[in-house]
Amino acid sequence: MQPRVFPQTIIARKRDGHVLTPDEIAAFVHGVVRDEWTDYQTAALLMAIFLRGMTAEETSCLTVTMMHSGVVADLAGVPGVKVDKHSTGGVGDKVSLVLAPLVAACGAPVPMMSGRGLGHSGGTLDKLESIPGFRVDLPFDVYAAQLGRIGVAMIGQTAELVPADRKLYALRDATATVESIPLICASIMSKKLAEGIDALVLDVKFGRGAFMKDTARARELAAAMVGIGRAMGKPTRALLTSMDQPLGCAVGNTVEVVESIEALKGRGPADLMEVTYALGVHMLLLARIASHPADARRRLETAVASGAALAKFRELVAAQGGDVGVIDDYSRFPQAPVVREVIAPATGYIVDVDPLGIAQPALLLGAGRINVAATVDHAVGITGLMKIGAPVRAGDRLCTVHARDDSDLPGILQQVSAAFKIGPARVAPPRLIDELVE
Ligand code: URA
Repeated sequence: MQPRVFPQTIIARKRDGHVLTPDEIAAFVHGVVRDEWTDYQTAALLMAIFLRGMTAEETSCLTVTMMHSGVVADLAGVPGVKVDKHSTGGVGDKVSLVLAPLVAACGAPVPMMSGRGLGHSGGTLDKLESIPGFRVDLPFDVYAAQLGRIGVAMIGQTAELVPADRKLYALRDATATVESIPLICASIMSKKLAEGIDALVLDVKFGRGAFMKDTARARELAAAMVGIGRAMGKPTRALLTSMDQPLGCAVGNTVEVVESIEALKGRGPADLMEVTYALGVHMLLLARIASHPADARRRLETAVASGAALAKFRELVAAQGGDVGVIDDYSRFPQAPVVREVIAPATGYIVDVDPLGIAQPALLLGAGRINVAATVDHAVGITGLMKIGAPVRAGDRLCTVHARDDSDLPGILQQVSAAFKIGPARVAPPRLIDELVE
C-alpha cells in the first residue's frame, strides 16, 4: 500500500514551486473524488497550481489521472473514425449545433458530449434544451446505439465520466482559478479522452470574450492540449479563433438555436459559417472522409446546400425526443414576452462590439448561469446584433433584447448599448481564424 501523502505537504510543495510527482498528483485527484480532501485544501492547491503552473509532464499526468477518475467510454462498436469538436468557450458560440449534424451528414460519426454555460460563456446543452422535449441525459448504451444508427448524438457528460472535473471545476469557478493553462487543459482533455473518441478538433478562442485574452496564451493552451491528445494516440488539431466580438448575431439559448437552424438552411451569418467550415474541414480530414482541405470544404458546403445537414439535424432532434416542429415553426420555441430594440445614437460605422458587454447583460436577462447551481431562462437573449464594419445611421436598430419582464431592463438596455462603439470610418472586422496548431 502507498504511504498516505498529506494534502498540506502537496500544497506546500506546489506553493514553493516544486514539480509534483505522479504519486502526489494521484493522491490529489483520488483524495478529491473520495472526499478525503476538504474544499479549502483543494482550493489551496488549485491556487498554488494557478500561480506556479505545471510542467508538461505534470499536466499530462493530471489529465490522465483525472480521465481515469471515472468511466472511460468505449465506442469501438461504432464503425468509422469518431471525431468530436470542443470549444474553449465564447459569446454566441453556437458552432456545435451546426457542426455536429453537418459533419455527420458528410459521413463522419460525431459523438458530442458538451457542457453547460457558466459565467459569460454559453453552453451547448442549455441551447439544445430550448428545443421542447430534447433530452441531453441519454444513458450511455442509448447514446452509443444512436451514434451507430444516425451518426450523431449530443449529450451531457454523464455522472460517471471524470467525476474529478465536476468537483474541481465548481471550486475553480468559485476561487478565480479557471484561467490556468494546465487546469483548463486537464479539465477539457480528461473529459474528451474519456468519451471514447478517435480524433479531436479544438476551437481555442482568444480575445476579450475568451478565457485566453491573447494569441500567445491561446497558442500555449492549444499546444498543451494537442500534445496530450497526440500522446494518448488520438490525432488532435486546434484552430485559434477570435472572440473579439460575439460570434453570429444572436446570444442566448433559443435565439442561438434559431440562428443555427438558419445556418443549416443556408442562411447563417458569415462569421459563424467561416468558423464552422474551418473546424469541419479538419474534422473530415481527421475522420479520413476527405483527402484534402478543398475536398472537405466542398463536401461541407454541398451538405448545407442540398439540405442533408438540416435533415441530419431533424434526425438528431427526433432521436433525442425533441419537437422537430420547431425547425419549420420558430413560434413553437419558448418566447420572451418583453421585446425591446436598442437604437444607434449616431451615424457612422460599427467599430466595436464588446463581447463581454453583450454577454454580461445576457447573463442578467437570465440567459446564462452566475454559478453552477443557477438555472437558465431559455427564451431570453439578444438578436440581430450589428457586426464590426457595418455602416449605421442614427436611429437604426443595433440589436433586439428579449426579456422575461421589465425589471432591471433600463440598466440592461444601457449596458447593451454601451457595448457598441460607432466611429466615423469603417474598420475591418477582426481576423477570425488565426492559426492551426497540430
Ligand atoms: N471548459 C472546461 O471544460 N474546462 C475548463 O477548465 C475551461 C473550459
